[in-house]
Amino acid sequence: MDPKDEIKQKIEISELIGEYLQLKPAGSNSFKAVCPFHSEKTPSFQVSSEKQIWHCFGCGEGGDCLSFVMKMEGMDFPEALLHLGKKVGVEVKRFSSVEGNLKQRLLELNDLAAKFFRKVLLDSTKATNVRDYVLSREIPENISEKFRLGFALDDWNALTVFLLKKGYSETEIIQAGLGLKKKSGSGIVDRFRNRMMIPLFDHHGNVVGFTGRVLPGSDKDGPKYMNSPETPIYHKGSLLYGLNFAKRGVKDNKCVVVVEGNLDVIASHKIGVDNVVASSGTALTEDQIKLLSRYTNTIVFAFDQDVAGFNASKRGISIARSLDFDVRAAILPDLFNDPDDLIKNSPDIWKEITTNSVPIMEYLINSVVKGKDVTNIDDKRLIAKELLPAISDMNNVVEREHWLQKVSGLLGVETSILRTSITNTHKKINKEKKLNKKVAQINVVNKGTKQEQAAFLLIGSLVSKQELFTSVFDLILVDYLPSDNTKKLYNYCVNEYHQSSQTVQKSFFKRLRSTLESEKQEDLLSLLDKSSLLAEEAFQNLSQTKVLEQLNRLIVLLRASFLKDQKKKFAIKIRQAESAGDQSAVHELIKQLKELN
Ligand code: UTP
Ligand code: MN
Repeated sequence: MDPKDEIKQKIEISELIGEYLQLKPAGSNSFKAVCPFHSEKTPSFQVSSEKQIWHCFGCGEGGDCLSFVMKMEGMDFPEALLHLGKKVGVEVKRFSSVEGNLKQRLLELNDLAAKFFRKVLLDSTKATNVRDYVLSREIPENISEKFRLGFALDDWNALTVFLLKKGYSETEIIQAGLGLKKKSGSGIVDRFRNRMMIPLFDHHGNVVGFTGRVLPGSDKDGPKYMNSPETPIYHKGSLLYGLNFAKRGVKDNKCVVVVEGNLDVIASHKIGVDNVVASSGTALTEDQIKLLSRYTNTIVFAFDQDVAGFNASKRGISIARSLDFDVRAAILPDLFNDPDDLIKNSPDIWKEITTNSVPIMEYLINSVVKGKDVTNIDDKRLIAKELLPAISDMNNVVEREHWLQKVSGLLGVETSILRTSITNTHKKINKEKKLNKKVAQINVVNKGTKQEQAAFLLIGSLVSKQELFTSVFDLILVDYLPSDNTKKLYNYCVNEYHQSSQTVQKSFFKRLRSTLESEKQEDLLSLLDKSSLLAEEAFQNLSQTKVLEQLNRLIVLLRASFLKDQKKKFAIKIRQAESAGDQSAVHELIKQLKELN
């Protein structure tokens, strides 16, 4: 069997999509979700287990498991095939696109480098200092193994020599971010030297880069952490460290905890708090937040004690709010600098504050008020200046009012006065939101005219059950259908119907779908999916007799509207013949019109 077909047979589409979206059952064999491909509040994204397809009635996107992965992961077709093949154990030959090949090579290189660094950490006589360091950080062996910690020797080219021997070129090693061109002369040197190596995983668990921590006492200067540069496989702004290990924990806990440091993630796993990812010391980007939205809609920030972390995160918090996340905070006790520090001393408090997080506003109020005198006018002004913009950022009126009252009580200033200072910013936000809402509404009602809807339902139910086709086949004419595309699709149905034999295993729908696929009829494919999902939804609880009744009603409707159109056309022709004085043509047309009736 063709690997594509084998993969499609082995994948259960609702399980696959369920890994990305929160699916809600909608009828016996289908599900609904909020569409990830356009902005909406009410779900118009539909998945059918029976037909193994998805379709969004808002933005019109749709297809099968492969097209879903392509869109969701930004993969091309061969990449999606390889990815799903790996998932269900179907071997897919390496793809041959130039770009795909390069990415594949770079992934192999990074993985190999991780193995090399790991082996050095475990076995090398020159690695005692890093082994001591891992011990001093209280990282147990199983966790060190899980996160594939390693060591880059204090050597100019230990890794590059190894990689060159394995057959990779200097250019590839540089492209993978592992080597640097020598400043003078030819040849390359290792990018990472004398550092504890932490492989960076993408959310599938592939090693895409590294961050290397300087060891205490080493006399090398340079940053505390040295990171891989941007490469075709590593984009700092879209990676969340630890997400590959956190997916399950995030779903189970219904929230993700975002920490600043990679070692905070590692420490947290050590004590079983596994819904944790690291932003790697910068503000969360929109890409990262969208990635998180596949798994949860609650983000809990755990900031280090310094103010830098919170200030850097303001933008991320604002993006998360605008994407309707519940944004919360895990407040560290004053004594501890960061989660790693807390976990070392009081692991139970870490469990407690990540489980019982507080609204982010509470964190903000705490940290703004800390060290200030709420009765002093200058401090009051400072506090208000920090807090009011955050309040005006809130979407929900009730929530906004709640925090306004808190701040009013805190500063001893009337809420009405505070309110006037935030309404201005708020007007602007409201205007934008109204616009967005309008766009969303236009999208959702995009189900077509009455005639089109009837055609969709009719075709959709015929392709689901071949028996229905047999019962209504004589009652419809292709002319009754309202648009060129529905006519074309209907003709495909008729052809498939005539070609069908009892011995074929595949359902009518699947056969029709693969015909359209092989003929690259993209528009008709989308129409087919849309129609069958609409029919599935409309007729799901009806008996066969009732369905037939409904289909007859639809045919009557389409026929009536067809006849009405025809009559209009005749009327025009008759008027034209009359004004041309062509009496015999007039007679002939009237005769035809009578036959039509
Ligand atoms: P921190 O300095 O808070 O790291 O930086 P940490 O995890 O507490 O490290 P330890 O405990 O001192 O070993 C937070 C994150 O910022 C990024 C890293 O991703 C780090 O995990 N960072 C920090 C850099 O990229 N470069 C740096 O020089 C420092
Ligand atoms: Mn730390």
